[in-house]
Amino acid sequence: MSATGPRASASAAATGWSRPRRIRICPSVLSADFARLAEEIAGVEAAGADFVHVDVMDGRFVPNITFGPIVVDAIRRMTRLPLDVHLMIAEPIRHLEAFAAAGANHLTVHVEAVDDPAAAAKAIRARGIRAGLAIKPKTALGPLLAALAHCDLALVMTVEPGAGGQAFLEGSLARIASVRAAIDAGGHDCLLEVDGGIGPATVAEAAASGADTFVAGHSIFRAPDALAALRAIRGAIAPA
Ligand code: DX5
Ligand code: ZN
Repeated sequence: MSATGPRASASAAATGWSRPRRIRICPSVLSADFARLAEEIAGVEAAGADFVHVDVMDGRFVPNITFGPIVVDAIRRMTRLPLDVHLMIAEPIRHLEAFAAAGANHLTVHVEAVDDPAAAAKAIRARGIRAGLAIKPKTALGPLLAALAHCDLALVMTVEPGAGGQAFLEGSLARIASVRAAIDAGGHDCLLEVDGGIGPATVAEAAASGADTFVAGHSIFRAPDALAALRAIRGAIAPA
């Protein structure tokens, strides 16, 4: 089992995973057909997806509700890919243990949902899981930038969190570039993930601004051919 595979151990917090910088594509199951979820995930795994992005919403931090640890545990048993779990929930610290036990490989909490982002990231890493910090489009970047040394993944939201299928916010590009500059200046071993409105038409500019990890829901699972869609996204980043 690889260090990034299911049930990654405490060694998952080892350094070096963001270097050399490589492109990672992360289909978001939010836009998948949940009646055929195992099949949908198997399809994107075969197509070369890097992580499975799993969106947890609680009806408080965001208006919508999706699912909790029980479903994450079920998804864990559908794939060998790392589960990139995005917690759009209030009081996320209370629930870290349950999501860790369910098999999350990465747990990302929102800086808006915690008092101390660095402490939250440390609490995630203490469970042998990669720690992510996410930030909404209108939140000042300061709290995220101040905690970069403690996280493995910085998630810059490129839509307002809460629903799939929204349009990419162009104002996100400068924010992505600022986070990239801070990661590089600090020498942090941190992926820069973007989430919302990512598809073949938007991924290149997000990559050019410094993102390396791309969540995509509608543009993959609502495409006629998810495999072709995933490859089109990857191809749009890597120029011929
Ligand atoms: C939105 C979620 C996203 C969502 C992205 O709040 O965090 O992960 O699934 O969906 P698309 O790619 O359709 O914008
Ligand atoms: Zn997400």
